[in-house]
Amino acid sequence: MKNIILTGFMGTGKSSVGRHLAEGLGLGFVDTDDLIEGRAGLTVSEIFERFGEGRFRALEKEVIQGISTQCGLVIATGGGAILDGENLSNLKRCGVVICLTASPDTILSRIGEGDERPLLVGGDIRERISGLLKLREPFYMKADFTVDTTAKGVREVVEEILKIVR
Ligand code: S3P
Repeated sequence: MKNIILTGFMGTGKSSVGRHLAEGLGLGFVDTDDLIEGRAGLTVSEIFERFGEGRFRALEKEVIQGISTQCGLVIATGGGAILDGENLSNLKRCGVVICLTASPDTILSRIGEGDERPLLVGGDIRERISGLLKLREPFYMKADFTVDTTAKGVREVVEEILKIVR
């Protein structure tokens, strides 16, 4: 079985939905940010702080390359992963890419202060979310499917994804 890849903006539910989906299907679950943190021995924020976004993106690319040789997994990516064309093609080659979306208000309420998300630190968080969402929309549209998670619980989103993959 190919992989099921969940991508999309921060706070759209990729990790929590991914975990439940994997459990329901009896598949393994991996989160690329966790793999990056494991490889670096640092948190995502620490990698950004000490080495900058470029280093984080390089690690993200390595981890995605590695994981795309595996199958039968539910994979949650970081929100910026598919902005890179090579990441997107690696992910599409190894599975179905589903982009989770949510309204800016929902995203804001799910991520709280955003202090674990280096791209949202500094300035008005609502403005940063709206700005990044606008910039990223054309990239997220390249996913195979989109599932909106606004005002939906994890179980409901998992059901929608199951309809797509079954
Ligand atoms: C990022 C999203 C984060 C993490 C990093 C960069 C992004 O993951 O990969 O902070 O560029 O959107 P989540 O989407 O899981 O928060």
